[in-house]
Amino acid sequence: MLAILSVLLLYICNPVVGVWYQQVYCSISESCECDFKPHIRDLEWDLYKNVYGQHLAQDIVSEEVAKFLQNKSPERPLVLSFHGASGTGKTMVSAMLGNHLYSSAMSSPYVHQFVPTLHFPLPDRVKEYREELKSWVQGNLTECARSVFFFDEMEKMPPGLIDVLEPFLGPSHVVFRTNYRKAIYVFIGTTGEEVINRVALENRQAGQEREDIQLEHLQEAIAQAVYNSTTSGFFQSRVIQQKLITRFVPFLPLSRRHVERCVRSQLCQRGSCGRTDVVEAVGGDMLYTPAQGQYFSTTGCKAVPAKINLFL
Ligand SMILES: Nc1ncnc2c1ncn2[C@@H]1O[C@H](COP(=O)(O)OP(=O)(O)OP(=O)(O)O)[C@@H](O)[C@H]1O
Ligand SMILES: [Mg+2]
Repeated sequence: MLAILSVLLLYICNPVVGVWYQQVYCSISESCECDFKPHIRDLEWDLYKNVYGQHLAQDIVSEEVAKFLQNKSPERPLVLSFHGASGTGKTMVSAMLGNHLYSSAMSSPYVHQFVPTLHFPLPDRVKEYREELKSWVQGNLTECARSVFFFDEMEKMPPGLIDVLEPFLGPSHVVFRTNYRKAIYVFIGTTGEEVINRVALENRQAGQEREDIQLEHLQEAIAQAVYNSTTSGFFQSRVIQQKLITRFVPFLPLSRRHVERCVRSQLCQRGSCGRTDVVEAVGGDMLYTPAQGQYFSTTGCKAVPAKINLFL
């Protein structure tokens, strides 16, 4: 009996048989581990090729996701918080992340998105929302340890709600029968944009390269901004106090050359690659701040499709 068991064990431990066994298992199972197929190289490629002017976001996201997924039993979940002005690529980067983690991409049942105006619209119902959010997250983690949660528009999140996630985000708490440490959380919002934009402006006025902007300058400043801002889901939040965010990810304001890259890329997608006149017209039609210098687009690349329609 022991001999048969040993042979069986050796057989299953053989890597080729292991792969075969997993394929068979995944063809009959709906386990999320089967749908979880992270392609880190593709994510890096997507980030570096298609996101313009965001060297900090590109570096942090690729680095942290790769480090986190290489660790088979992480001590804490990966918690990223995206900050920056409107139209700078926050939602776009979060979608890239989701797309390269699961084979069914953002439509995977293990990728969850929360938008406060949709899911938590009434500030006086925070108590109920807290209960709902907690049991929703816990239920999903029980079903799939590799769950991914996106919280967009954090500036509209009722303060006090996100703190209900504190037990899931830290390293030391135990959530009964749930390996919550493999999950990924991404918070997205505009709060902190003043700090980020100021650093970008000073860099520009000093005649330095955009790539000279270092993350160290911004981490603590963003943490302070979201903690102190009344229009932030992290207002006086224990998540910030307890330092449960792995990294704050700043999105820098976009210059005219970045906007024009957005125009070029979207024109190509529409089959009008050669229309440099439209690139020039859209770039020139955007609003730029500050009045003195006109360095940064006030709407990032957000208004690009509408302007293309106007000039094409
Ligand atoms: N840095 C960028 N590189 C390339 N394209 C970009 C970039 N930023 C924005 N875009 C384009 O503009 C669109 C809008 O950007 P996105 O939705 O990511 O902005 P956001 O930062 O989430 O803004 P908001 O705070 O208003 O939600 C994207 O779908 C993309 O086409
Ligand atoms: Mg967005």
